Amino acid sequence: MNDPESGTLARPQHVAIIMDGNGRWARARGEDRHIGHQAGVRATRRVVEACANRQIASLTLFAFSSENWRRPPQEVNSLMELFLVTLENETAMLNRNDVCLRFIGDRAAFPPALQEKIAMVEGLTAGNGGLRLNIAANYGGRWDITHAAQCLAQEVEAGRLRAQDIDETRMHAYVCLADQKEPDLFIRTGGERRISNFLLWQLAYTELYFTDTLWPDFDETEFDQALRYYAGRQRRYGRTGEQVEQEGGGDV
Ligand code: FPP
Repeated sequence: MNDPESGTLARPQHVAIIMDGNGRWARARGEDRHIGHQAGVRATRRVVEACANRQIASLTLFAFSSENWRRPPQEVNSLMELFLVTLENETAMLNRNDVCLRFIGDRAAFPPALQEKIAMVEGLTAGNGGLRLNIAANYGGRWDITHAAQCLAQEVEAGRLRAQDIDETRMHAYVCLADQKEPDLFIRTGGERRISNFLLWQLAYTELYFTDTLWPDFDETEFDQALRYYAGRQRRYGRTGEQVEQEGGGDV
């Protein structure tokens, strides 16, 4: 239990998920991979609803990595189409439910229609005060950190910052999601035990949860299992277990 003071199961404020296993789910049914991605969208909807119902502040989903361009062109194209259609189908519902949607990653590589849709949805939901739903698309943790370093270098070049004043706080301000709490809980479905270039900076102190369940099969019950795992963790942030018990949990 990571909230000894209140005696209740502590909930993560920010959950980050690598949604893996769509292809294997489809193959196991003799179907094309695309059918697995469509089932993945349904699982995504279930988890978004579960987060909103549990008052989780932020959910970050890895939808397309910088490395996913290496997939067969037909699969890449069908994923782009699926993202576009999903945004078209789900935007009104997300907006009604006060969800604030944001994309992180280098969107310039996406088809123009998808880029326009992303900008439209972000604009429409920007003022919403409910769940912060972050979609990582053409995102890579190394890209994120490199981009932050470039921004800092530009500040130095312009004479607004001295190199010796660069510290973790300044760096943090330039990585994605700097305005949200760092993820408390990371979930990866599909059996692999890797971070795969997701949120490398932001996951420094995150509790990691891996499950063999394939993403299309991931549901509310599985999500609650991950929450229970999180509630059983003691977050020490470098302190000893005894210190945490005496001083209580929290960001130190
Ligand atoms: C991994 O399965 C999933 C992806 C590459 C991303 C696609 C995710 C979705 C379609 C879910 C919906 C998300 C949004 C935001 C609309 P995989 O193909 O790597 O599975 P495999 O490891 O079994 O081959």
